[in-house]
Amino acid sequence: MSKLIVVTGATGQQGSGVINALSANPDWRIRGLTRNLNSEKAKVLIERGIEMIAADFDDEGSLTNAFIGANAIFAVTDFYEPFGTGIGPEKAMQVEYDRGVKLARAAAKTLTLETYYWSTLPAAKDLSNGEVEVPHFDAKGAIDAYIKNDPVLNPKTIFLLTGFYASNFKYPPFTPIYSKPAGQYILALPAKSSSHLPSLGSVNNIGITVSGLLQHPYPSTAYGPKGGRYVHVTTGKYQIQDYFSKWAEIAGKGKLQVLSVPFEQFEGLHGMWGTELGLMVKFWEVVGAPRMWGTVGDGDIMVDSRDLEGVRDRLVSAEDVWRQENWDQF
Ligand SMILES: NC(=O)c1ccc[n+]([C@@H]2O[C@H](COP(=O)([O-])OP(=O)(O)OC[C@H]3O[C@@H](n4cnc5c(N)ncnc54)[C@H](OP(=O)(O)O)[C@@H]3O)[C@@H](O)[C@H]2O)c1
Repeated sequence: MSKLIVVTGATGQQGSGVINALSANPDWRIRGLTRNLNSEKAKVLIERGIEMIAADFDDEGSLTNAFIGANAIFAVTDFYEPFGTGIGPEKAMQVEYDRGVKLARAAAKTLTLETYYWSTLPAAKDLSNGEVEVPHFDAKGAIDAYIKNDPVLNPKTIFLLTGFYASNFKYPPFTPIYSKPAGQYILALPAKSSSHLPSLGSVNNIGITVSGLLQHPYPSTAYGPKGGRYVHVTTGKYQIQDYFSKWAEIAGKGKLQVLSVPFEQFEGLHGMWGTELGLMVKFWEVVGAPRMWGTVGDGDIMVDSRDLEGVRDRLVSAEDVWRQENWDQF
């Protein structure tokens, strides 16, 4: 009999990637979660034969109900939606934390649960020794700490550290612009262009990693009592200049120059999104390539998705994502 995976954020980029990676696998039944069963995206999933169920991260009872019978759960919270309403970074962190805790509590109560795949990001403030706090990272880092303190859920959890989506070019802070006088594309970022970026490649790599781990489970023993089992979902780290130059080359845009600008200037260009994403870029610079979240905390263990059986040959690089797109209108 097939097992059940419950996918939160099923209508979003990460969740739909998990669904795509597993929908043809007869060993797994999929139940997707959405707040709105009548949205276009939910309807498409229902038409594909995916069981969809209404649940809200703010309503723990709806999550407990949605998780009934789950052998595996993929959980992801969305920082950007509350942040985008303009409530400010502190409140958006609190909303994301509360939602992550509700998901974790509901998962811990699910007696059939074998594995909880929690999509997270590094605790930037801790890793940078207090130098850079990145709200959408640190809210997830605080949820990690909550899970590690839960003796029921922690041993069942795989913490998926996710890198920078190859599709982020469509967000203005990462959209290069053409400078006629310079005769090339330019991207202003608040860090040295020689600092590094952790690339996720295709956002589908998260789903590919989950499906590989379901087939080849990660050993559940080798980590400390309050430690976590982390998988860094990545196709490699790049110097920022190289990453964007590769995009320009593949997209047929010629040369691209990453300009290192002061943080305040980046904020001036992109408002609150500039602050939020600028802090992330600053974090990459501060922690540096060798420590690109190598160790997350005491007792944690970490593997790279490229070292996992059933995953390494299926990962899709940023370059491959860009090659599949038509950049003529860009
Ligand atoms: N962009 C990057 O490079 C990057 C890299 C790593 C991590 N991340 C993280 O990725 C996260 C976003 O994931 P994504 O890209 O998959 O987002 P997305 O495409 O915007 O989708 C968000 C999903 O979350 C669901 N959702 C939001 N609020 C909900 C609630 N209150 N209750 C139930 N479901 C809710 C939505 O479902 P419905 O609308 O259908 O209810 C939707 O399926 C962010 O937290 C971000 O920090 C981003």
